[in-house]
Amino acid sequence: MLKTTDMLLLLICLVGTSDSLYKQWIPDTNYENKTNWDKESVPCGNDIVQFPVQRKVSVFVETTHAVQEMRLPVDGEFILNSGAGFYVVSGQDPGCGAGVTTKFKDSESLQWLNPALWQGSATLDDLQRGNFLFSVHEESVPCQYDDVVFKASSSFRVDTSTSQSSIPVKSVSVLGKKYESTSEFTQYLSSRSGRLQFHGSSAVTVGNQECGDPSGCACGNSVNHKRICSTVQCASLGCKKPLLPVGHCCEVCGAIVTIHFATGFNLQTYRQRIHHLFLVLPKYKSIQLGMSKIFKSQQLMGIIPFGTSPEIQVVIVDEEKGIQSEGLARDILKDARSNGSSLGITEAEFQASSGNSSDQTGGSAGMVVGTVFGVLIGISIIITLVFLIRRGVIQMPSSLPSLPSLPSLPSLSSFRRSRDVEDLNGPIDHGYDNPIFDKPNLMPEAPGLYATETKNSISMTQSGVHFVNPVYDDNETDFNA
Ligand SMILES: *[C@@H]1O[C@H](CO)[C@@H](O)[C@H](O)[C@H]1NC(C)=O
Ligand SMILES: *[C@@H]1O[C@H](CO)[C@@H](O)[C@H](O)[C@H]1NC(C)=O
Ligand SMILES: *[C@@H]1O[C@H](CO)[C@@H](O)[C@H](O)[C@H]1NC(C)=O
Repeated sequence: MLKTTDMLLLLICLVGTSDSLYKQWIPDTNYENKTNWDKESVPCGNDIVQFPVQRKVSVFVETTHAVQEMRLPVDGEFILNSGAGFYVVSGQDPGCGAGVTTKFKDSESLQWLNPALWQGSATLDDLQRGNFLFSVHEESVPCQYDDVVFKASSSFRVDTSTSQSSIPVKSVSVLGKKYESTSEFTQYLSSRSGRLQFHGSSAVTVGNQECGDPSGCACGNSVNHKRICSTVQCASLGCKKPLLPVGHCCEVCGAIVTIHFATGFNLQTYRQRIHHLFLVLPKYKSIQLGMSKIFKSQQLMGIIPFGTSPEIQVVIVDEEKGIQSEGLARDILKDARSNGSSLGITEAEFQASSGNSSDQTGGSAGMVVGTVFGVLIGISIIITLVFLIRRGVIQMPSSLPSLPSLPSLPSLSSFRRSRDVEDLNGPIDHGYDNPIFDKPNLMPEAPGLYATETKNSISMTQSGVHFVNPVYDDNETDFNA
């Protein structure tokens, strides 16, 4: 007989592979929400209701309200629920205190890129039940594959300014209607409500395709990292070695598990697995766990970047200085190592803010590989440098008298074809000799290789010698990359 968790896992496997989440905008501009009023209460029959004159606002009204007087903005709208409306009481409203002037708060500055204003869930059901997921700050804001939800019976105003011209998402739900087609949503944006609800320099565009990769997709919000973090205030931490998760604005106390995967890994299934195996346990009640695919930039010897590699980052934080997190990290690692082959996990490691981490052996193996690569890269940089010197890109001033020449030692210059020198009308000093290459057996084939290329890159004219600068040659590697 199948247990419910197995059923759930099975169901998830059948439902699909997409790894999109639902992200719901928290604030609203509802008449009934007392946080929207400066007196922190909804105005009643003796009150004067005032909307900021110059502000644009779309207000959702759910029921009927008595007012004494209402001052409206220049541009705005009420979205009335069926049966909702306003009426004026003659005389005093007995259920209402002495009349006051109550102002509707300004919602102008609420930004799309503020991670505190969103909550995320794996399903719409979870969203309604309040089962929210923890995410790093970048992914609290809707990712390019996410479904964006504005609460059904509510209106809002959001500043959609970002560093890009558009904000791509999968779908947007407004007032209970889900927009999945680009043209339909563009039409909504240009409607009266659309213009009052969305403002700012970037346009939200729906219809972005699903993430087709079962192992997950990158969120795509790194380009806005600075803006996202500008609204975040980091708490001071009490742990020994705080960790900075990729995509997060602040360091955290807790643990980060890094998972390397192969084909067959399914992020959504794995997220559910961790939930059912561990997060439901009472001892992990205070745990917050966020799981996402990230592209970590690879560095050789800690400095030289060479591309990125995808991995799964599991961020675990708790309210107890990361002690529970470390326990969970160890549990996840155990599970990954014993059950990993059926999950598509090839390797897992963790780092905790206590300074503990998974066994060091894996790390040192990586170090060896890194060092070997580092040495190789170092050698190729030197080769490139010599190459550039040979081609005249890097040139030492020939008038410098202090340059030591080492004619007695066999150096690269002795491999240089004499034609090269004759072309330039005499022995011009092209640079310095690199002593590392003064061992002739190290690079025996180098001179021939460079000599032929040199022929194409130097030309003589009346006015002087011209060099083709390989730095601007399309075929060359970009050394700043
Ligand atoms: C009222 O607004 C606040 C902040 O914008 C929000 O957190 C809260 O959920 C809203 N209340 C309701 C009942 O929607
Ligand atoms: C760190 O590791 C040591 C040894 O494995 C263990 O005794 C200690 O409790 C760990 N620290 C935390 C915070 O779990
Ligand atoms: C391996 O997976 C099973 C469930 O599929 C689980 O009960 C078991 O605890 C896992 N192994 C470890 C070491 O966590």
